[in-house]
Amino acid sequence: MEKELLNNIVKSIGNFNSHKKSEVYLHEPNIDKDDWNSVKKCLERNFVSTVGNYVNEFEDKLRKYTKSKYVVAIVNGTSAIHVSLKVLGVRFNDEVLMPSLNFVASANAANYCGAIPHFVEVEKETMSVDPKKLKEYLKKIISFRKGHAYNKKTKRRISCFILLHLFGHSSKTDSIKKILFEFNIPMIEDAAEALGSFYKKKHLGTFGTIGVLSFNGNKIITTGSGGAILTNNKSIAKKLKFLTTTAKIPHKWRYEYSDIGFNYRLAGINAALGCSQLKKLKNYVKLKRKLFYIYLKNFVGSKNFEIFKEPKFSKSNYWLQTLLLKKSSLKNRDKLIKIMNKKGFSVRPVWKPLHKLKHLKSCPKMNLNITEDLEGRIINLPSSAYLAKHKF
Ligand SMILES: Cc1ncc(COP(=O)(O)O)c(C=O)c1O
Repeated sequence: MEKELLNNIVKSIGNFNSHKKSEVYLHEPNIDKDDWNSVKKCLERNFVSTVGNYVNEFEDKLRKYTKSKYVVAIVNGTSAIHVSLKVLGVRFNDEVLMPSLNFVASANAANYCGAIPHFVEVEKETMSVDPKKLKEYLKKIISFRKGHAYNKKTKRRISCFILLHLFGHSSKTDSIKKILFEFNIPMIEDAAEALGSFYKKKHLGTFGTIGVLSFNGNKIITTGSGGAILTNNKSIAKKLKFLTTTAKIPHKWRYEYSDIGFNYRLAGINAALGCSQLKKLKNYVKLKRKLFYIYLKNFVGSKNFEIFKEPKFSKSNYWLQTLLLKKSSLKNRDKLIKIMNKKGFSVRPVWKPLHKLKHLKSCPKMNLNITEDLEGRIINLPSSAYLAKHKF
């Protein structure tokens, strides 16, 4: 089994020698001359912090690409989720729904607000939230008070839902949005991994009241560290800009603040890198989609493994390529991961589901059988765009 995995990986992307590296990483940033020049220009102009035009330019470019009406650039994706929850009115002792098969950022952000994460189940088809099960569950647990959804059991208000598009693949976004509308629960889309991904030809992150992107070093484009918030709602955009710039009352020289704000604005030096990286996004998506087909060709017909394919009606950026272990190979997951890492291929399991983390164990949750099944089956393969250029 380990031989099959190793051979198929080498057949797909070559070995580390073919890339003149000691290790093939899971996902590397791709920095070229254009990026060096863009950052150099920013340094020469002396606008390295939030003053200057780079941040506005980066927001404009993102607006055009995603077709979101408003974009607010921010220091990272986690802060983007945090301030979005704040703007949507999430407060102490509320519950925030989110899948358990998730990065820890959403749970952390809910906790920063004094709210309690509440975990929902995913489906195999999208590895994201199961709309049918969600609807049945919400029907069972929710009662309404003054138009707001409350958890019948805990008596707490359910004030937000954070939908994750896992590894850049789309959830059944419109069905989930419809269900949440029925229960009067606003939706934040965690599209941190999904820049360049579309559902029914609409960019992910533009379906919810708010969408969040990340430009961390491991994402499809990077600003070093960074994020952005997408929204079509003018008053939400205004509040986001205000709160992320320390709640300062705009004035040329007066320094006066009218709320508890956050110093969350992206810096110009990061935005300068973002501007040059964005020019290459379409090419990266193309290469990553090609890489998917290369892996698919080499794993097709395997008794032990299958490659996860983008869900129907969507076009994925294939941020992280995903191998699913079949039943026969489940018990070997950790051994396989260990061997591949030893051989110089950085592969990894999915995050430990949030409901299993020590500090989140007591949070409310629905039945999470599929989450636990997927936890044992997922292995992410090296996914950097440049790997698609390997010659056979
Ligand atoms: C799904 C998901 N949500 C949120 C984040 C947080 O983004 P950041 O690292 O920019 O804070 C990340 C990635 O890092 C992520 O993968």
